[in-house]
Amino acid sequence: MKKIKVGIIGTGNISHTHTAGYMALDNVELYAACDINEQRVKDYARKYGYKHVFTDYNEMLKLEELDAVSVCTWNSVHAPASIAALKAGKHVLCEKPMAMNTEEALAMEKAAKEAGKLLMIGFVRRFGNDARILKDFIDSGMMGDIYYAKASYLRRNGCPGGWFGDKSRSGGGPLIDLGVHVIDLVRYMMGKPKPVSVTGATFNKLGDRRNIKSTKEYRASDDSEEIFDVEDLALGMIKFDNGSVLTVETSFSLNIEKNVADIELFGTRSGAKLSPELKFYSEINDYLVDVTPAHDTALSFTGLFENEIAHFIDCIANGTECISPAEDGVEIMKILDAVYESARTGREVVL
Ligand SMILES: NC(=O)c1ccc[n+]([C@@H]2O[C@H](COP(=O)([O-])OP(=O)(O)OC[C@H]3O[C@@H](n4cnc5c(N)ncnc54)[C@H](O)[C@@H]3O)[C@@H](O)[C@H]2O)c1
Repeated sequence: MKKIKVGIIGTGNISHTHTAGYMALDNVELYAACDINEQRVKDYARKYGYKHVFTDYNEMLKLEELDAVSVCTWNSVHAPASIAALKAGKHVLCEKPMAMNTEEALAMEKAAKEAGKLLMIGFVRRFGNDARILKDFIDSGMMGDIYYAKASYLRRNGCPGGWFGDKSRSGGGPLIDLGVHVIDLVRYMMGKPKPVSVTGATFNKLGDRRNIKSTKEYRASDDSEEIFDVEDLALGMIKFDNGSVLTVETSFSLNIEKNVADIELFGTRSGAKLSPELKFYSEINDYLVDVTPAHDTALSFTGLFENEIAHFIDCIANGTECISPAEDGVEIMKILDAVYESARTGREVVL
């Protein structure tokens, strides 16, 4: 069996989950790792057994035998690193958000088409077991026509610091970092309708709450808090070409009781809520009923990154059609850009 040689660009926090996913597969060889932080990448390569170590991804991409890379850098490097990798003939799994903006995302999509290589976007929530089960129910008609959805990803004190608060490296705050997950998941569940218009609002009222003493659950690898020039709260209403509407709310800092990460979908035959566990709201025999799939390990909120990485490798090794392709990343970038533009101009953006 020919092993697929993989490389990692950016060996910070999330890259560890990528490597764990690759290590679970028999047909993958951990081959090269790259980070601008030399000590970090050396420690990383030693820990997992990556053969080659680089501090410049252009040098790493000269390895002819390297087949595929995960791009796990901060957001401003997603486009240049992915395009360089595609041009060097590598398959790419790029972390979310796809890029800083739609223009970059389109350039990435074009590079993938020209190279004839796979560019998959790491919309990891699609790969959760709960999401798979919900999608199965939707595809079988359980929900009827879905015409409204609500997506929330709210943190009370959750700015990870470092580059996440620096617009020149992140492209934005909670909308591009967290909102991207739930906006994508809803659109995916709805059957990928095209966005037609967007209204949005953003705030920066509480900032990154660096004054608060309680610990934050997620921190950037370099988490100094010198810069915070992104929004701390973003709200949006997105209308799709099939008439459906999504409202989204997402924050790094907000005066709420506890963090929320949820989506709710409302259809003509039933509604559904994803957490704390998948539940449907419907009617049977003129009674309102709540339906919960029987408890099963398959329903637990696990399997995210393992499933995503396994799918990436399956696409490369077996030509399986990618369920999280570049074109989906482009559509999501259009929505994110439009929320920011609407917030800036105070007007609805027609796409
Ligand atoms: N899918 C998810 O649930 C999820 C969760 C967290 C982060 N992410 C995404 O993963 C990416 C990384 O986030 P993180 O939390 O790991 O950040 P991090 O700060 O921990 O790591 C980023 C790494 O990228 C490195 N880097 C920056 N520029 C580079 C370059 N030119 N070449 C090589 N390395 C470079 C940094 O030195 C750092 O080690 C972001 O795009 C983020 O949105 C996704």
